[in-house]
Amino acid sequence: MTLSGQILSAMQNQLPEARHLQMAARWHDQAPALLMRLQALYGDRKDFSDWCVTLMRAVADVAAQRPDALLKLDQQRAQDKDWFCRQEMLGYCTYVDRFAGNLIGVLEKIPHLTEMGVRYLHLLPFLRAREGENDGGFAVSNFSEIEPRFGTMEDLRNLTTQLRAAGISLCSDFVLNHVADDHRWALAAKKGDQHYQDFFYCYSDRTEPNHFEQSLGQVFPQAAPGNFSYVESLQRWVWTTFYPYQWDLNYTNPAVFAEAALALLHLANQGIEVFRLDSTAYLWKRAGSNCMDQPEAHWILQALRSIVEIAAPGVLLKAEAILPTAQLPAYLGSQNPKINECHLAYHSSLMTAAWAALSEQNVSMLAQVIQNTPALPEHASWLTYVRCHDDIGWNILATEALGANSNAGTAAARKRLSKIAQFFSGEGDSYARGASFQASNPNAVHGSVGMASALCGYAAARNAQEDTLARRRLLLLYGLALTFGGLPVIYMGDELAQGNDALYRENPTRANDSRWLQRPEIDHQAYTGRHDAATRSGQLFTELCQLLRQRRLLPQLAATQARQWIDSGRAELLIFARGDLTHEPLFYVANFSDHAVQIDLTLLKQYRHERLDLIDVLSQQIYVEACIHPVILQPYAQLWLHHAAEPSNGGPIKKESSVIFCNFDGQV
Ligand code: GLC
Repeated sequence: MTLSGQILSAMQNQLPEARHLQMAARWHDQAPALLMRLQALYGDRKDFSDWCVTLMRAVADVAAQRPDALLKLDQQRAQDKDWFCRQEMLGYCTYVDRFAGNLIGVLEKIPHLTEMGVRYLHLLPFLRAREGENDGGFAVSNFSEIEPRFGTMEDLRNLTTQLRAAGISLCSDFVLNHVADDHRWALAAKKGDQHYQDFFYCYSDRTEPNHFEQSLGQVFPQAAPGNFSYVESLQRWVWTTFYPYQWDLNYTNPAVFAEAALALLHLANQGIEVFRLDSTAYLWKRAGSNCMDQPEAHWILQALRSIVEIAAPGVLLKAEAILPTAQLPAYLGSQNPKINECHLAYHSSLMTAAWAALSEQNVSMLAQVIQNTPALPEHASWLTYVRCHDDIGWNILATEALGANSNAGTAAARKRLSKIAQFFSGEGDSYARGASFQASNPNAVHGSVGMASALCGYAAARNAQEDTLARRRLLLLYGLALTFGGLPVIYMGDELAQGNDALYRENPTRANDSRWLQRPEIDHQAYTGRHDAATRSGQLFTELCQLLRQRRLLPQLAATQARQWIDSGRAELLIFARGDLTHEPLFYVANFSDHAVQIDLTLLKQYRHERLDLIDVLSQQIYVEACIHPVILQPYAQLWLHHAAEPSNGGPIKKESSVIFCNFDGQV
């Protein structure tokens, strides 16, 4: 029997007969890609065939345990593969404890989520983490236990069921790259168990680590310099890309891949619908490289995707790979249409370039990122966002920062990016109140931290006018995330204009990681006041909800729809079209500067064959072609322009609307 045949029969043995045909179909779909990738990764092992059979038998065993409700979900999703690409999809991201205390508390917050139209909830790490410092839960001690402070597996199952009933998919982190130093594998390794020592990269002296270090970067150069940590009990240097207590897993060992895949499937059976695959770029090490984004890292993700398609096909994989624009599309499997990778990937360079545009009042880098973003492959989407729990790392924009001056060299790019980092630290006359991340040198570019509201100027605002500008900046960035084409995610607190949380400095397990500046507890007072127009949170929440409502009504904004960048001819203005460009596209027009800018809307004429009558769906202002004069876009204003429907009498659209001004904020 062929290997493929052996695997199928081993899998079918684990399943009731009624599911044999379905499994055969899935296997035939996935086997070519899966076996190709496993062969490339582990094919040189003598026991490769037996290992494959054992792995896939275990996969089928987990598939056999999949609850009925989730089998049904798998079926529905198979009929509707773009379910997460629609314009109605909206995400929300938060820490369990900062948002709701524990998993049971999250249940009570469902109305807050549904009020905004949230359909996807990313709860940051909630599996059991090491005690003390644990990188916000990203140092996982046990993949099959919930962090005791947050509840139990039963609570998780209950939560996923209730969320599903409310139309919300739960997203969980799955930390593929490393485990905590008190995970059972690490403990066994420390006790001298060779089987588990092989789960990690361990070196008896510094020869190899030193060799690797020559080409490696550093994630936390201040708090955790270097990429290797000496472990006394092991008397070895262990690869620790992040903190010394996070041990990188060795994916050259097939046992590691198998354990990770099975752990993920077990969690999927608890009702988790989306996995945020953490630090995917780091999964494979290669001497002489920066050990990021290696081809094998993609093969691992592709093999994992096939396994998910076999055992839990309703589940989505989301890549967290914080890399330059050119390297992002591969995580969506766009390199080879026959081989799928993740369904979703963070568009980190879009997010970073949007902040850069705000600080420079110049959209050049952002425009380049947009132009360098290829069309999405089928059934895949970007994850768009304004802020998250991590720093904004400026280095991923190194190429865009060179601009037209590509001969200027990296020093010029660094200078440009340093200036941006300094801006967000509040230097000079900046309105931002963030901080630089992991940079001791004031000219270093590492990253910036701070809540979006603080970076947008709320914390520094001294009067109502400055408050308005801060609100517009924040809405401008959310407008971009909502219109770009992807699954936009709101970071908890942004909807309430919540500010920085400096209290982290008093907690010894957090004090040396300034990302906690943007990880506050939800502000209950701001939440209660969210409908009160006299409060900051009320004003922002109302206007944000208006953007959210409008987005849901505009099919042009689905991730599956095309996007076309349009040269505005002005450094401050970003314009792109969404949807069918020959038929009623939606135009996002945004002023990233602190001054009013004139825009001649006739430049959109090339995208319409008929008369160019446009309505800004946000303000309901109509722009009639016959009367098109330069439109004045107020500081940080945005327009979502859409074809204005003809009045039923066929006459011209309201004449009075021909007085053209931007009334984004009720101002002329
Ligand atoms: C990811 C997480 C980040 C964490 C790191 C190590 O980048 O987003 O918070 O520190 O992985 O797990």
